[in-house]
Amino acid sequence: MTETNLRILLKSRPQGRPGPQHFERSEEPRPTPRPGEVLVRHRFLSLDPYMRGRMSDAPSYAAPVALGAVMEGECVGEVVESHHPGFSTGDRVRGARGWQQWSVAHGSTLIKLPDQDGVPDSAYLGVLGMPGTTAWVGVTEILQVKPGDCFVVSAASGAVGSVAGQIARRMGARVVGIAGGAEKTRFVTEELGFDACVDHRGDLASALDAACPNGIDCYFENVGGPVQAAVFPRMRDFGRIAFCGMVAEYNQDPPPPGPNLMALVRKRLRLQGFLVSDHPRAWKQWSEVGGAWLREGGLRFREDVAQGLENAPEAFAGLLEGRNFGKLVVAI
Ligand SMILES: NC(=O)c1ccc[n+]([C@@H]2O[C@H](COP(=O)([O-])OP(=O)(O)OC[C@H]3O[C@@H](n4cnc5c(N)ncnc54)[C@H](OP(=O)(O)O)[C@@H]3O)[C@@H](O)[C@H]2O)c1
Repeated sequence: MTETNLRILLKSRPQGRPGPQHFERSEEPRPTPRPGEVLVRHRFLSLDPYMRGRMSDAPSYAAPVALGAVMEGECVGEVVESHHPGFSTGDRVRGARGWQQWSVAHGSTLIKLPDQDGVPDSAYLGVLGMPGTTAWVGVTEILQVKPGDCFVVSAASGAVGSVAGQIARRMGARVVGIAGGAEKTRFVTEELGFDACVDHRGDLASALDAACPNGIDCYFENVGGPVQAAVFPRMRDFGRIAFCGMVAEYNQDPPPPGPNLMALVRKRLRLQGFLVSDHPRAWKQWSEVGGAWLREGGLRFREDVAQGLENAPEAFAGLLEGRNFGKLVVAI
């Protein structure tokens, strides 16, 4: 049994692409569990795109990994020594144990894997782990896929996308993946059973037009960048987009200009366009509610009155330049 614990520490914060120079190896004696704790020998470590964010100290939804600390990551492993009543030697467990060979964890922070279920341990880091659960939330709760929807997912051969497409297909959608290269696109259709898969390294716009001739109802966004730019104009009326991640942009420093939509993911923002004409009942509701507020003096308004119909063109031009102050009307 290895008595030392090899750990990978974050040495410096990458600008752009992370590489070995940003990490440091450290060997320590194997840790010893105390009461309530469990000693775990790690078997598999999950590597996930979110880790790029943990290497940066830019504001985000989670704190960065401190310089000199063990990199964060989920592991599955085996209990070697237990001082917690919920675990026995030999149990298979999952937990956020970091980039290292061993760890001690309080039993309350570990999840026991089912016994002898025929599922490989590593699958609890992927298809049945965080990425698979992400796919499930995105498809069922955020996109609320309906039978007949045209559902598109980027990074379709990846951990999240591969599961998202399969869930959507089971929910009755026509599923189109986007992936990089012939080998991945073939895998997505032939192994995963998607209806189609297009290669973002080719002419993505034309390929999407061919695969989604009536447009896209649901887009599961994993990538951002040019893939996102190709998908957006092909969304149908009342389409839905689940912003899961934008891996193509994680190494870009500074981030791409413009309204960077990664803020939607980090801050769990809801973004929805609407047209008042789709809400006919609201007219009556608002005239009752707003009318009452107005009459009791609780609703203020200001008007900017242009005099004479002949002045309407000039007044309208002014509206687009900010010359009006308040609701612009023309006194005819
Ligand atoms: N919101 C959440 O809670 C949550 C949870 C988990 C994951 N995520 C996000 O979900 C996304 C997918 O994660 P994953 O774990 O499933 O990763 P993954 O798909 O297993 O791996 C990343 C894939 O992204 C694609 N990619 C990378 N750079 C690209 C680029 N420049 N242009 C186009 N495609 C590129 C590559 O696939 P191709 O070669 O096919 O392009 C690559 O294999 C990531 O954005 C991640 O941050 C979010």
